[in-house]
Amino acid sequence: MSSIRQSFIKHVAQTSELSMMMEISRAEGMYIYDASGKAHLDMNSGISVSSLGHCHPNVVKAIQHQAASYMHTMVYGEHIQGPQVAYASLLTQQLASSLNSVYFVNSGAEAVEGAMKLAKRYTGRYEIISCTNAYHGSTQGAEALRSDDDFLRSFLPGLPGIRHIDFNNIDHLSKITEKTAAVIFEPVQAECGVQTPKNDYLKAVRARCTEVGALMILDEIQTGFGRTGHLFAHHKYDVVPDVLLIAKSMGGGLPVGAFVADKEMMDSFSKNPMLGHITTFGGNPVVCAAAHATLKTILDDEIVKDVLAKEKLIRSLLIHPIIKEVRSSGLMMAVELTKRKYLKHVVGKTIEIGALIDYFLFNSKSFRLAPPLIISEQQIHDGCGILLQAMEYAYNKYN
Ligand SMILES: Cc1ncc(COP(=O)(O)O)c(C=O)c1O
Repeated sequence: MSSIRQSFIKHVAQTSELSMMMEISRAEGMYIYDASGKAHLDMNSGISVSSLGHCHPNVVKAIQHQAASYMHTMVYGEHIQGPQVAYASLLTQQLASSLNSVYFVNSGAEAVEGAMKLAKRYTGRYEIISCTNAYHGSTQGAEALRSDDDFLRSFLPGLPGIRHIDFNNIDHLSKITEKTAAVIFEPVQAECGVQTPKNDYLKAVRARCTEVGALMILDEIQTGFGRTGHLFAHHKYDVVPDVLLIAKSMGGGLPVGAFVADKEMMDSFSKNPMLGHITTFGGNPVVCAAAHATLKTILDDEIVKDVLAKEKLIRSLLIHPIIKEVRSSGLMMAVELTKRKYLKHVVGKTIEIGALIDYFLFNSKSFRLAPPLIISEQQIHDGCGILLQAMEYAYNKYN
């Protein structure tokens, strides 16, 4: 084993014994290059992050320019920093008028934490409802929203007042009551293998939240910025949440997240007592410059326009006897196989041949496809060709 591999295992804390162990040399556009120089077609976007591909020139230029001007000057909220203001202005122009105030943080989980605190302070209630099979992050509070008791056991006690409902179950909405501070959920559930809302589910949640005075927190950390074929998935389903959560692709490859709400609600953090939520690095100017360049490029280059056509093309190419079902919302896709035993062979072989795909957290029969939104028609053909080869390999192993 090369010494960098040994040092990675020894000195970089590991999350599992199954890490991909790919040594990266560089990344550009749709490709990540390993240490041997081999190009890997990214069909995964580093889990829905690199929507503009890797090292988009506009993003790199914005980072370089801002890094040479100023970086950290003060903790979040004290200094007026141009990149933050520019980003918040551009983002809120794309949203409903009630989503007009952006609280910047450093990750998706932090956006979840901040939004839960905001809901508690604003409503004076503490019950939070989330959906079974949802994933909202790995910090203590975000993790407490998880419905997986086995997983949570070693981290107990979790947050008090967490209750669960099943996604798409209209009957469960009666569990949202006058005691509920907030309901937090994804418009399209990701980690259970892409479940889309059925029968106006989002509108029903919206109506119930309004009826009982609970806040509707929508986690668009994975679905945001065009992934589902709309700039935000809630635009497609025609609902406006009280609090919107964003992260992942927001920074064009740099770490940033935010929760967005009405200024009147957000101002509850700044009094009684003040400093209700604080962060040192949230809204870092370099990161905000990257986020601004990312959003501007998505808008100027009309990146979202072709997402549904690309989804359709991928679906038309993925025909194989071991595919049971393809579930998708834009370029957020799950390919479910007929048998669980095929999965590791398909994922392993695809990566070996030269395309990057991944597993889901809570679905052992499906693999994840979430390519950068800039993927070309030719690259879709290339990627699907590799996937079909890998499926044929898996099929031949058992038949
Ligand atoms: C829907 C959703 N919410 C929240 C998070 C947590 O984001 P982060 O890993 O940036 O903390 C994730 C991460 O995968 C996610 O998919």
